[in-house]
Amino acid sequence: MCGIIGYIGGQSALEVALTGLRRLEYRGYDSAGVAVVVDGGLRTLRRAGKLANLEKALAETEAGLSGTTGIGHTRWATHGGPTDTNAHPHTDCTSAVGVIHNGIIENFAGLRAGLEHGGHELTSETDTEVVAHLLEDELATLVRDGSSLPAGTNPLTEALRRVCGRLEGAFTLVVVHRDHPDVVVAARRNSPLVVGLGAGETFLASDVAAFIAHTRNALEIGQDQVVEARRDGVSITDFAGNPVEGRPYHVDWDASAAEKGGYPYFMLKEISEQPTALADTLRGRLSDDAEIVLDEERLSTQDFRDIDKVFIVACGTAYHAGLIAKYAVEHWTRLPCEVEMASEFRYRDPVLDRSTLVIAISQSGETLDTLMAVKHAREQKARVLAICNTNGSTIPRESDAVLYTRCGPEVGVASTKTFLGQVAACLLVGLYLAQVRGVLYGDEVARYVERLQATPTLVRETLATVEPVRALARSLVDAKAVLFLGRHVGYPVALEGALKLKELAYMHAEGFPAGELKHGPIALIEPGLPVVIVVPSPRGRSHLHGKIVSNIQEVRARGARTIVIAEEGDTIVEPYAEHLIRVPATPTLLAPLVTTVPLQVFACELALARGLDVDQPRNLAKSVTVE
Ligand code: G6P
Repeated sequence: MCGIIGYIGGQSALEVALTGLRRLEYRGYDSAGVAVVVDGGLRTLRRAGKLANLEKALAETEAGLSGTTGIGHTRWATHGGPTDTNAHPHTDCTSAVGVIHNGIIENFAGLRAGLEHGGHELTSETDTEVVAHLLEDELATLVRDGSSLPAGTNPLTEALRRVCGRLEGAFTLVVVHRDHPDVVVAARRNSPLVVGLGAGETFLASDVAAFIAHTRNALEIGQDQVVEARRDGVSITDFAGNPVEGRPYHVDWDASAAEKGGYPYFMLKEISEQPTALADTLRGRLSDDAEIVLDEERLSTQDFRDIDKVFIVACGTAYHAGLIAKYAVEHWTRLPCEVEMASEFRYRDPVLDRSTLVIAISQSGETLDTLMAVKHAREQKARVLAICNTNGSTIPRESDAVLYTRCGPEVGVASTKTFLGQVAACLLVGLYLAQVRGVLYGDEVARYVERLQATPTLVRETLATVEPVRALARSLVDAKAVLFLGRHVGYPVALEGALKLKELAYMHAEGFPAGELKHGPIALIEPGLPVVIVVPSPRGRSHLHGKIVSNIQEVRARGARTIVIAEEGDTIVEPYAEHLIRVPATPTLLAPLVTTVPLQVFACELALARGLDVDQPRNLAKSVTVE
């Protein structure tokens, strides 16, 4: 939510900011702005709408924005609508300081009242603007008692530390000042910020995608810290001014991974990358002695043996991955497993103790609802394992152990390849737990892992046969609603299919357990309504298959148009399917890795047929850093 970049170095700050913002636009796209320090002044330009509006305004402006210190922002509105005035950067009364922000400053109303009382004029409706004016006051105070500042301390850095001490809520702030062209200063609390270290240049950004074209050397910044960025590097302190170290890491993908690579949309590229993404999640997870290998494990095998309950917390698509995991975790480990939307978790006082394992699933590693659930779980002494796609992000850092999905950058706002990565990672965790707890033998685990390792090929085969799904989606462009039904692991797949359609095509779509249909949702069925049914394999759990065939007949009898996803060789469903979508046969618990794929393609194609931007759906943000 909100894309942020700060730059200081030898290049044009404006160019670096715009290139960075193009890569960050998926984080927020309702307005954009830049500020550059130019010859003792600060030039800003802000525009409502997508980045293209700002670029157009920049092309038309007379005012030069040529300088080597600057900041840029793409916004996802919280306080105040998406207007030019509410767009960032925000400035103080003297237009000396420029501030960009991600997050919410919860005590902004009181701070604003105090500032206005003190004579400040605030022009926007945002919470961010108070920071610019608070900095103005703190800098004035520092100038008044100049001698109190230790030698070598930049007043802007000190002013930001003092301001942060007065803020409540979540924030990443990046600040420039016309009188301090040698620094860009930033701070973070519960909101993302990474540093990029180049040769004679330094970057500050919401994520590494913003500076990946310039450097792959990054620094993680901890909670409640302030970074002073100079051309030659950074100094980091806590809010009290005590020096701290950032954690350096190397980004293992390059700029081409965050480009469209010939596809008209990132989402199409990311759907097609799924076989590789899935293979990367699974790669190297099984050691020579058939042990499953996690990343950054700060929990002992004994800790995992002592677990007596599992909670999975996540949001959106990641929550659906968690729902799938429940079936596998309970089946393989015989541990009770609850799955909960992260935003609800801590507010209902869940029963947690040191023998509870909480699995937090998040692509971005920054979703604030999930982060807060993680913090709550740790306060209650539960063990927390993160499943995450983004190295150096906050959720893995706040957890006891991490399993990275390694799917590479995902730019399309609606998750596709990382969903498959999350499902695969959850299955690995389930197997790991079963193994350390002695519920499954090493050879049984190895057999499952072998089946898992075959899934990238199955996903490739599924993708090779989805052309009829595209045609079907185009034919439904005028449908008013679509229902999705499933049983067992097919139920979360149905939920995910419905979510994709809502997110991308803005259509009314609902997922239901097929058995629940007769208890209410069946009233929604009317002639011609498209109903997608995710059918379990007739092998293995045949009782489930028989039940869902009855459910298909129930909706058909009421005139619905049945779209059936069934595995190769399942002839039983043929007479009941108006449209039959075939997927390769898989073991039941692994089936979501293939059955989800046609649903992603379906939603994407339907949205495109409606003329919508599938990469940046309205009102959504990829990384939701507010509660
Ligand atoms: C947002 C996105 C969803 C995503 C969810 C969780 O709501 O729009 O597509 O599934 O956040 O994101 P995470 O990064 O935690 O997986």
